[in-house]
Amino acid sequence: MPAVATHTIRVFGDPVLKRPTAEVTDIDGGLVKLVDAMYETMHEAPGVGLAAPQVGVQKRFFVYEIPDESGPHVLLNPQVVEATGEWEYEEGCLSLPGLAFDIVRPKLVTVKGLDLDGNEVMLQGDELLGRIFLHEIDHLDGVLMLDRLDGDQRKLAMRELREQGMGVRTPGGRSHAL
Ligand code: NI
Repeated sequence: MPAVATHTIRVFGDPVLKRPTAEVTDIDGGLVKLVDAMYETMHEAPGVGLAAPQVGVQKRFFVYEIPDESGPHVLLNPQVVEATGEWEYEEGCLSLPGLAFDIVRPKLVTVKGLDLDGNEVMLQGDELLGRIFLHEIDHLDGVLMLDRLDGDQRKLAMRELREQGMGVRTPGGRSHAL
């Protein structure tokens, strides 16, 4: 099997991470190839989710894979249909290397979008999968995890980013980068 080239993951400070994305309108060979490269990039990182802007592509899709479950998967033009409950999780981001913060977000998240065959899909994610959906959809809207931090966390994060250094605080055991 030929090796799939990986992409460089864009990190904090790259303007592409702050720009909103455009809907995917054509599912062609180029997109399929890009999705394969993003799967490989996500595995290599390693991470459990990767949104197109993180590899410099302003299109509305992301890839994800939960450890020990089937995958990887891709979701095109995702939208949140419903988000309920609350769940705290130590969240990391491949575009913010070395940072991880406890963030409360909804626990049970329903999203809809398209698969790579252009079929409409509706997916429900609980806990980690729900968190991946919300974190990656934020990326597609130009929103970073930093924007979800409370005041004190944000000050700490900005100080660590200024000092970078990278890796002032590494994610703990139950944390994954998204
Ligand atoms: Ni991220």
